Amino acid sequence: MQGNSIQIRPVGGAVGAEMTGVDLSEPLPVQARDTIRKALADRGVVFFRDQSLTPEQHIGLARQFGEINVNRFFAQADGYPEIALVAKEPQHTKNIGGGWHTDHSYDQSPALGSILYARQVPPIGGDTLFSSMYAAYDALSDGLKQTLGGLRAVHSSRHVFGVVRDDRFRNAEAAVQDAVHPVVITHPDSGQKALYVNPGFTVRFDGWTDDESKPLLEFLYSHAARPEFTCRFVWRNGSVAFWDNRSTWHYAVNDYQGERRLMHRITIEGCELGG
Ligand code: SIN
Repeated sequence: MQGNSIQIRPVGGAVGAEMTGVDLSEPLPVQARDTIRKALADRGVVFFRDQSLTPEQHIGLARQFGEINVNRFFAQADGYPEIALVAKEPQHTKNIGGGWHTDHSYDQSPALGSILYARQVPPIGGDTLFSSMYAAYDALSDGLKQTLGGLRAVHSSRHVFGVVRDDRFRNAEAAVQDAVHPVVITHPDSGQKALYVNPGFTVRFDGWTDDESKPLLEFLYSHAARPEFTCRFVWRNGSVAFWDNRSTWHYAVNDYQGERRLMHRITIEGCELGG
């Protein structure tokens, strides 16, 4: 029976776990849901293989972990506004998410996480990297931890989604979100400290100019992307990654020109973050 055969194994030193013995298409037994929640809080991202999810089942899965955030900017699956399409067609040269970021940090209550389901992956490439912001924070010196502990940072959607791109995006005029969050957050579920700035959406430290902010942000970005804080997920059709946006960054590798990659993403609402 699902629930008795669950196994979980870490896939990297700092981040990521693969879970087997779970059929995500069915309502999860309490034990399975609790195991996924705990793995998310501890390991930042949980991977599943060989799943078969209809859009309704994907939505049903997400609702077991919270309210769904209907994405404002991505094209949606036909008839399912809850599902954002993360697509790259053979004619596209740019992918979506091809740089280190964490989703929705421009919202005052940033998303808890996302559940990404691989519908069609290229024969080679199209992997996703994840990095642990717990590990990035822990490896800083006590002096820098103390400095960062007193800072907040401004995050914005404007420079990313406010520019008109192609038909994979919509609502550029709705990209007016700015939010201020602590640079070091206490994760609401694990209680661990995590670094909470990211190259995709963070624009400056609160009260600092862009120029003043840049050197320290650049240092933090290269520090947080150190290979020992990361893992790499090689997708197959039917794979699922469920990540926590508060404790990880992710990066979709764009190394499959001329091939199609189609993912369905559902994002789950989160809460305001405290230091
Ligand atoms: C994303 O950035 O949300 C998508 C990641 C991916 O497609 O691997």
